[in-house]
This record gives sequence, structure tokens and C-alpha cells, in this order.
Amino acid sequence: MAMHDTEAPGSAAVCSATKDDLATFVEHIDHVSQFWNNHSDEVGAYMREQCPVKHSSAHGGFWVLARYEDILQAAKDHETFSVGPGKLVPGEDPEKRSRVRPGEVDPPDHRAYRRALNPWLRQSAVEPLLADFRAVADELIAQFVDAGTCDIAQSYSIPFPPLAFFRHVLGLPESELPEIRDLVTRAVFARDTKTNTQAYKDLGEWSRRLLNRYRGRDDADGIIGAVLNARVNGEPLSEREQLETMIPVMIGGLDTSSSVIGTGVRLLAENPDVQRDVVANPELIGPLVEEFLRLGAPSSLFRNATRDVEIQGQTIHKGDKVMLPYPIGNRDPTEFEDPDSLRLDRIRNRHLAFGGGAHRCVGSNLGREFVAVAIERLLARIEDIELVPGQPAVYESVQLRALRSLHITYRRREPAGVPADAATAGAA
Ligand code: HEM
Repeated sequence: MAMHDTEAPGSAAVCSATKDDLATFVEHIDHVSQFWNNHSDEVGAYMREQCPVKHSSAHGGFWVLARYEDILQAAKDHETFSVGPGKLVPGEDPEKRSRVRPGEVDPPDHRAYRRALNPWLRQSAVEPLLADFRAVADELIAQFVDAGTCDIAQSYSIPFPPLAFFRHVLGLPESELPEIRDLVTRAVFARDTKTNTQAYKDLGEWSRRLLNRYRGRDDADGIIGAVLNARVNGEPLSEREQLETMIPVMIGGLDTSSSVIGTGVRLLAENPDVQRDVVANPELIGPLVEEFLRLGAPSSLFRNATRDVEIQGQTIHKGDKVMLPYPIGNRDPTEFEDPDSLRLDRIRNRHLAFGGGAHRCVGSNLGREFVAVAIERLLARIEDIELVPGQPAVYESVQLRALRSLHITYRRREPAGVPADAATAGAA
């Protein structure tokens, strides 16, 4: 294996993998390893050619799918590919840790949880918040706009979505943000079952305390009120079910969009013509955001086979775990022409950043607008974004692939470009 693959988690990719490295790795695919962190796109391309459905013995054993169509079909076929016994690897039986609802509940029950969250996450609920989100973005940009250089991940893409979410979606005091951010990071980046179980228990405890504060209060509206008042089959949720419904909301609201924004800035730096085109034509923000979502999709989740099923000549047995690596599906050339390039002229961009089927992201409108607002405001205030030579992007991946560090240089834009309300991503 290439030398850098033995480095600590979170270190940067510095060179491409050789074919021998890839052949060796796919015999024992481990999505928690540094090699996957650095080369998962190359692993996906290799697998599509050589072994599009492959078993790994890591973490108790699981299958990995590499073709767009297979990943999408598995996501849609919830009767064959259940989330029931848990969709996290490494992760314990959800009966023993906190279950994620609706994420780890199969249809039909899972619809009731989505119905509760939906009114607060649909496009018509998100649109009125855009001006507030822009103000949060401007506040953060003001802190680095004159510096000419910064780590855009630490200064902007990591803090922006949690701050906007806490202030304007949940309406919670910012003093509580550091604790929950730390808990979410520990849960999403747990590299073994013990850490995962503890992290989800801690997230559950935090959610319990939050919900207890609002229980019985008249002003418990928004997402928190929706969780407290949700009913499944006409019955109110138990306290445990309520806190387990809060967990994915916190993970989705705090973590997922950051990585897409950070990768988006990297793509802008790598494509200077795109920076100019989007400022000149703000209506291109919509297609740009879709490409950022496609190329920067962070999430890979798991399913559990409920029966023996054959895919691409391989038999997946009842009870086997199956990984749906959405970022890998997003680079399949049979679905996306020139899949590794940022193209604003794609006619059809049915990317899998938000998954597919019954569990497709219920927060997709919010996530999409976080990305759109962040990029729109950044391009309005700075120009000539470039990567700092010798300081490559640093990613960390487990259930999510997150951008931890990205050093850029830029100039303050005078006068400010893209007007503050020129473009929103809009509903999918
Ligand atoms: C760009 C940002 C986001 C990305 C890339 C993303 C990605 C995903 C993906 C891939 C899934 C499906 C998982 C599966 O197949 O099992 C999902 C589900 C979910 N997401 Fe997001 N998400 C984002 C933003 C958000 C936000 C902002 C929220 C909430 C505030 C959220 C809440 C959820 C919830 C509750 C589910 C579970 C849905 C279900 O199981 O029915 N996400 N997300």
C-alpha cells in the first residue's frame, strides 16, 4: 500500500493509488481505513470494472455495491434491504444503543416519523429562513474576508450549518452548540462498536434533556414540538422514541452539509472559470449546488438483507449487511457522462447525495439551501480562490466523509458580487 495510507485518520491524500494497491484493498474493504478515506473514488471505479458487488470480512462482514443502478435499486427495495437491525457499521444492535428514527425504522411505521418532521423541513418552511442564513454566512465571512488566506473548513464550512441550524431552525442558545457538536462528531466518526454505542447513548441523553425542557410547554413548536407531539399508529411516542427521533435531526442539521460546502470550495478553487461564470450568471448556483452534492456527497449507509438475493452474479444471503456507498454511485459513468468533472451543463443530475427510496433525506431542502447560501455569500465577498500549494484537503471518513481542513488564498471582492438574494437552490 502507498506510504501515506498508514498515516493517522484525518491525514491528507497525497497521491493516487496503484492498481495493485486497489486490488489488494478490495479483498478486505474497510470503510474506516485511511486507504478508503484517501481513495474511495478510485476504489469505486476499480470495483465497477472488476467486482461490482464485493464481500468484505471487516467489522463482522458486509457487502459493498459499486454501480449506481444497484445502489439505487437497493435503497428503493426496502422489503429486501431493511434498516431494521441497524444501518451503522461498526455499530451494535439498535435495541442496545439508541435507534435512529426514522432512519432505522422500516416502512410503514417510518412514514409517521417523517410526517412529523416534514412540515418543518419542506421548501416552504425553509425559504423564509434564507435571509437569516445569509446573515450568519456574512457574519462568519467578515472574520476572514481581509486575511487573504484561511482554512476555509475551520473558518466557514464547518461552523456555518450548525450555527444557522441552532439559531434559526431550532432557536436554541448558542452556548449549547459546542457540546452537541462534539457529541455528533463522536457518533458519526466512531471507529469501533464500543465507541459508537456510547456516543449514541450520549446523544440520546442530550436529546432527552433538551426535550424535557420543552415538554408540556405551550411554546414547544418547530421541530422540537413536532417530535414531542408526534404519533405513530395514533399513539404518542414513548420518551425513548422521541429522543431517538431527535438524534438524526441533530446529525443532519449539524454535520452533513459542512462537508458538501467544503468540497464545493475545493472544486471552485480547482475550476477558476466556474468561479467567474457563476458570478456573471447567478442562475448557475442551482446546477453548481447539484454538482457539489454529487461530487461531495458525504454519506454511506448500510442495509440488512431480508432474503437471499443475487446482484451482478453474487448471492447476498439473508441477514447479510450491505453497504450503499452513495458517493461511489455518483461517479458511475453509465449514469453520469464525464463523472469526475464539475459540469454546469448536465441536463440530468439524479445524484444519490440524499440517498433514494423511502429513506431519502427528509432534510434535503434545508441541506441544499445551506450549501446554496454558503456558496452564494462566499462568491459575493471573495474572488480568485486558489488552493495553497503543498497543503492538500484533509478528509476524515466513517459513516460520513467530512472535510476537516482546506487552506485557500483569495482576494476581497469589491464591490460585492452575486446579490444577496440572487439565487437559491430551490426544491428538487
Ligand atoms: C447536504 C446535506 C445532507 C446530506 C448530504 C444528507 C444525506 C442523507 C442521506 C444520504 C440520507 C439517507 C440515508 C439512508 O439511505 O439510509 C439521509 C437521511 C436523513 N437525513 Fe439527511 N442529509 C443532509 C442534510 C440533512 C438535514 C439538514 C437534516 C435535518 C435537519 C437531515 C436529516 C435527515 C434524516 C432525519 C434522515 C432520515 C430519513 C429517513 O430515514 O426517512 N439531513 N440524509
